[in-house]
Amino acid sequence: MNQKALYVREMFAAIAPRYDRANRLLTAGVDEAWRRRAVGELAAPRGGRVADLCCGTGDLVFHLLRSDPELHVTGVDFTAPMLDGARARALKADPARRAVFLEGDVTALPFPDASFDGATMGFSMRNVVDVVGALREARRILRPGARFVNLDVTKPANPLVKRLFGLYFYGVVPLVGGLVGGSKTAYRYLPNSLTNFPDADGLAERFRTAGFREVRTIRLGMGAIALHVGIA
Ligand SMILES: C[S@@+](CC[C@H](N)C(=O)[O-])C[C@H]1O[C@@H](n2cnc3c(N)ncnc32)[C@H](O)[C@@H]1O
Repeated sequence: MNQKALYVREMFAAIAPRYDRANRLLTAGVDEAWRRRAVGELAAPRGGRVADLCCGTGDLVFHLLRSDPELHVTGVDFTAPMLDGARARALKADPARRAVFLEGDVTALPFPDASFDGATMGFSMRNVVDVVGALREARRILRPGARFVNLDVTKPANPLVKRLFGLYFYGVVPLVGGLVGGSKTAYRYLPNSLTNFPDADGLAERFRTAGFREVRTIRLGMGAIALHVGIA
């Protein structure tokens, strides 16, 4: 694992215990609607197999299970304390339909080719060092015709929204995240991870480079959030 990936993993390990609380406060819960939309765009077959990549403490996993209790969901993440949080939530939420959580790197997934009917990733691609590598892996584990849905913040095109979003993302997030999330450094890093990340069109291009077809971009949150949907 290279230096940046190690740094990212250490950072998430440090903020894992307070991650959910900080997240809810920073998004005021509006991320719930974006996550529901992501799950809707996935259109996974009932009872199918879905992977949530970079699952963290499992937010998208639980949305997937709410959409279809028969779904077989596997969450993958390389930060053990984030997975501990996900497993604890799963036990509390409903032991009978516990999801499976595995430790793994999304640039080298521990699954055979074509083994899933859909895959999601939420608010994580900016932290992945090799974006095209991760996208190639997402495509590899999907059966032909299955969808990959990526949900993340993006650079807004509208200048006014860009300014307001900048104030929030580079001002409020490090301040509140530092106080509630337990690490000022981490919540300074997280917004900055967007600075060098491709814009929505650039990310769509990387989807195509990785072999996805019929790539669509759906902008939400006044253009500050993007869903990218690709077919394997
Ligand atoms: C901001 S959190 C998002 C968690 C969750 N998906 C959500 O929507 O709340 C980013 C997650 O990506 C994980 N991550 C980053 N790079 C990774 C990689 N290369 N392989 C696996 N997990 C990775 C981190 O450990 C962290 O849990």
